[in-house]
Amino acid sequence: MTKVTVVGAGNVGATVANVLAHKDVVNEIVLLDLKGDMARGKALDSFQQAPIDYYSTRLRGTDDYKDTAGSEIVVITAGIPRKPGMSRDDLISTNAKIVSSVTKSILEHSDDPIIIVVSNPLDVMTYAAHTTSGMSKTKVFGMAGILDTARYRAFLSMELNISPKDFQAVLLGGHGDTMVPLPRFTTVGGIPITDFIKPERLDEIVERTKKGGGELVKLMGTSAWYAPGAAAAQMVETIVRDEKRIFPCCVGLDGEYGLSDVYLGVPVVLGKNGIEKVIELDLDSDEMDLLKTSSDHVKAVMATYDGMKS
Ligand code: NAI
Ligand code: 2OP
Repeated sequence: MTKVTVVGAGNVGATVANVLAHKDVVNEIVLLDLKGDMARGKALDSFQQAPIDYYSTRLRGTDDYKDTAGSEIVVITAGIPRKPGMSRDDLISTNAKIVSSVTKSILEHSDDPIIIVVSNPLDVMTYAAHTTSGMSKTKVFGMAGILDTARYRAFLSMELNISPKDFQAVLLGGHGDTMVPLPRFTTVGGIPITDFIKPERLDEIVERTKKGGGELVKLMGTSAWYAPGAAAAQMVETIVRDEKRIFPCCVGLDGEYGLSDVYLGVPVVLGKNGIEKVIELDLDSDEMDLLKTSSDHVKAVMATYDGMKS
């Protein structure tokens, strides 16, 4: 019996629940939001899709944490999204309070669940959930790298007119404009990407990836949800199936990559225990400089969060 709770039934949370329900890998999904009727409505709508799309996953909407009791995995999407002109970091004062209170409420009803944070600013909200929970860093981590890598792979697919299925890539760093896509570790059908594309054009695609979230905010007036929701659902599926897949996830670093006391995206092995291993790539000095810049940026926002608590 696997029970998963998704907190926040807005654009991203409802998509996580809907995509995950389609995968038919968990018995029950509880969708919780302050707006209880909206959560109940979206859960009911998603379950009414089950006879059409053929899945058995039960869905329940609620505004009562008692209904989340016994959850093994919790995805936190509660919080405000950014509007045009805002950076993810501008969300911190509102979302830090929400993420901390959601974490506390969840832990009143579930013992030691795996917590996947989605709310922004992602790296610092992962820090907030982790420190609030007092749990192991292997069980509290964030979703961003799967999304950012997917954007990079999608842009490459559009450029080369090759299926998005065939692009493999790794991306490090914070979920923001300082993220570090790694062309050296990008392949298409097992062939280095540099065999397909000129370095200047690859640089442009890397730049577009870094600003990929902002591009969608400009187009839609709010942030994205289809790819983010699918990314978080993929993490849940991987954990439930104990697949031990390698994904970039946001995790608290304790010396890996020579970095400590910072929450950053790095490749990990994801399985039934959460983060089962952090993979340390042998970065060259340019790549390491970019990662360090990203780390410094995230640390500055973490300091803002620490300041809010005192
Ligand atoms: P949304 O506004 O559509 O939904 C957020 C939901 O959270 C609302 O339904 C709201 O009622 C609920 N909520 C607020 N406070 C709550 C609380 N204390 N308890 C329970 N529910 C609460 O926003 P959207 O688009 O779903 O985005 C959610 C968050 O995810 C934002 O912070 C956004 O920036 C972030 N995000 C992160 C991504 C990532 O890659 N990590 C990608 C996309 C969005
Ligand atoms: C995104 O990258 C807003 O973080 C969110 O779409």
